[in-house]
Amino acid sequence: MKILIINGPNLNLLGRREPSVYGSDTLDAVLAELEAAFPEAALAHFQSNHEGALIDRIHEAVLDPPDGVVVNLGAFTHYSYALLDALRMLPCPIVEVHLSHLFSREPFRHVSVISPACKGMISGFGKHSYHLALQWLLRLRS
Ligand code: DQA
Repeated sequence: MKILIINGPNLNLLGRREPSVYGSDTLDAVLAELEAAFPEAALAHFQSNHEGALIDRIHEAVLDPPDGVVVNLGAFTHYSYALLDALRMLPCPIVEVHLSHLFSREPFRHVSVISPACKGMISGFGKHSYHLALQWLLRLRS
C-alpha cells in the first residue's frame, strides 16, 4: 500500500522546535520509526515550508495517486484555502494529523480549514498521531 506523508512549515525543525509542545524527536527519527512500524506500507514523504511547493506535491499525487495520504500542514492548516482546494482533488483517503492537541491551544488553532477534505483528524498524541493515522489507512486494505 502506497502512503504519502506530507509535512508543512516548521516541521523540518522537529526536535528543536518547542520540544515541550512537539516532542524531542527529529522528523527523520519519526519517519524512521514509521518505516520500522509499518514495513508493509510503501511510505513516501514530502516536507516543505512553502505553500506553493506543498500544492505542487499534492498535484503530483493527484496525477499519480497513492492509496492514502497523511497530512500535517502546520500553521497552513488554519488558513490555507489553496491547500484545501488541492487536497480536494485527491481521490484517496486523507488523514489530518497534528502532534499537539489543537483544541487545548490558542483559539486560532481550533479551526482547520483543510478538515473538509479529510476523513478525520488525529491531534494531540505527539508522533503517535502519525502511527494512528497509518494504522487506520492500513486497515482499509485488510
Ligand atoms: C501542528 C499544530 C499547528 O497549529 C502548528 O502551526 C504546527 C504544528 C501540530 O502538529 O501540532 O506547525 O500542526
